[in-house]
Amino acid sequence: MKITKICCIGAGYVGGPTMAVIAQKCPHIQVTVVDLNEQRIADWNDPNPENIPIYEPGLSEIVSEARGRNLFFSTDVDKAIDEAQMIFISVNTPTKTYGKGKGMAADLKFIELCARQIARVAKQNKIVVEKSTLPVRTAEAIKSILDNTGNGVQFQILSNPEFLAEGTAVTDLLNPDRILIGGDTTPEGQEAIQALVDVYANWVNIDKILTTNVWSSELSKLTANAFLAQRISSINAMSELCEKTGADVNEVARAIGMDSRIGPKFLKASVGFGGSCFQKDILNLVYIAKSYGLNEVADYWEQVIIMNDHQKRRFSNKIVQTLYNTVADKKITFLGWAFKKDTNDTRESAAIYVADDLINEQAKISVYDPKVSRNKMLSDLNYLETRIEAENSNALNVFDNAYEACKNSHAIAVLTEWDEFTTYDWKKIYDSMHKPAFVFDGRNILNGKELESIGFVYNGIGS
Ligand code: UDX
Ligand code: ADP
Repeated sequence: MKITKICCIGAGYVGGPTMAVIAQKCPHIQVTVVDLNEQRIADWNDPNPENIPIYEPGLSEIVSEARGRNLFFSTDVDKAIDEAQMIFISVNTPTKTYGKGKGMAADLKFIELCARQIARVAKQNKIVVEKSTLPVRTAEAIKSILDNTGNGVQFQILSNPEFLAEGTAVTDLLNPDRILIGGDTTPEGQEAIQALVDVYANWVNIDKILTTNVWSSELSKLTANAFLAQRISSINAMSELCEKTGADVNEVARAIGMDSRIGPKFLKASVGFGGSCFQKDILNLVYIAKSYGLNEVADYWEQVIIMNDHQKRRFSNKIVQTLYNTVADKKITFLGWAFKKDTNDTRESAAIYVADDLINEQAKISVYDPKVSRNKMLSDLNYLETRIEAENSNALNVFDNAYEACKNSHAIAVLTEWDEFTTYDWKKIYDSMHKPAFVFDGRNILNGKELESIGFVYNGIGS
């Protein structure tokens, strides 16, 4: 089957950039991205491509090239489903906050709603592609909903997990390490796989397109994220030991990373990993393992999360202890709020938890982040429900300039590794602060020796 019309349900961090790149690379395919959220769609359609709702380097240029040509953003979900031969599901699958599996299992209600909507609307055969990260065997549930509509339409379900990392979404999409497509082993399943292979083959070398059965594909995504997160928790565990022994975690990471069996990536010690994927996917893995009675497997992976939570808490505790065991009414400046550089995404960002701890200690938090708004920061804090909204609002001051944010503060905490932080005039910042002036570098991006020569008391992670 030759695909000429694609629909993507969900215009978020995955659906938006992925479809923009498909549209750019496949001008012969009409790509329509739909979402229930009217504001989000209006933002994607903003005449100024700089105002699209997701910040990713290079994305606005791609959107401005393809939008209106073969890339469309719409709230008319039914129409887009009806017209498309291939439908991607890219809706959010947050961790459940209620009922069975609360705090662990993925909440599949948005996925199920999509499946029901597709079942209701579709009048012709369709290929449905799972793009969102899902628990293994979700395709089975989607298939069961779709196949029980009784209107004779045939559906093929493919799993095509997205491996892009935020902040580098465009380059990851343009040059993926691999594309993974899982489908049924039946002839119809193989035909559906081939249709999707043909879409990617417009710009991805065929050697990099891997096809598997559906369950392997679903589980591979969870496994990849679990392995990546595990490397960070492993180096973070060593960072605490480094602080006690006089070793330097950056030197240790460099030394082990040169072993070709280990490799240098994902060995950067930090205040803790964030983002919408790692924690959610590991909790998911833990839940699935437990549900099969595999308690040792579940406990093994759960440690990755336990270590990450410990690392965030350890960072805030260190700030309090170093500042003479009290931060009450002290101004602590955060450089960065996003969960990593080059994104405006704050989901599960370490900054939220560190701020929450410090507000509990009655600190005043000032924040500068080049891409995150005060509203977003406040809603992140309010979401934790630690205290009433007015108290969060009172404790949080947001600046659009780092020098202003740092003025009169007692300490600076680096929570995101934005490049611009390394280019600042740190002497000027030092002169504007209370003394002794402390820096807690949660990303190990600043030059500690240089800051100490200016007069700062510098604390990195793991040194
Ligand atoms: C991750 C996976 O990398 C990606 O393949 C998957 O599709 C989605 O989840 P993402 O969460 O966007 O991507 O970003 P990633 O670069 O993996 O960073 C995740 C978190 O780990 C960030 O908070 C980052 O700062 C932190 N991190 C990363 C470290 O603390 N140390 C490192 O060495 C690498
Ligand atoms: P991700 O990081 O997985 O892309 P996001 O939360 O950024 O997650 O995006 C998911 C999007 O899916 C949201 O914009 C949400 O409004 C949208 N969405 C959720 N359920 C539906 C649905 N049934 N129909 C259309 N859009 C949906």
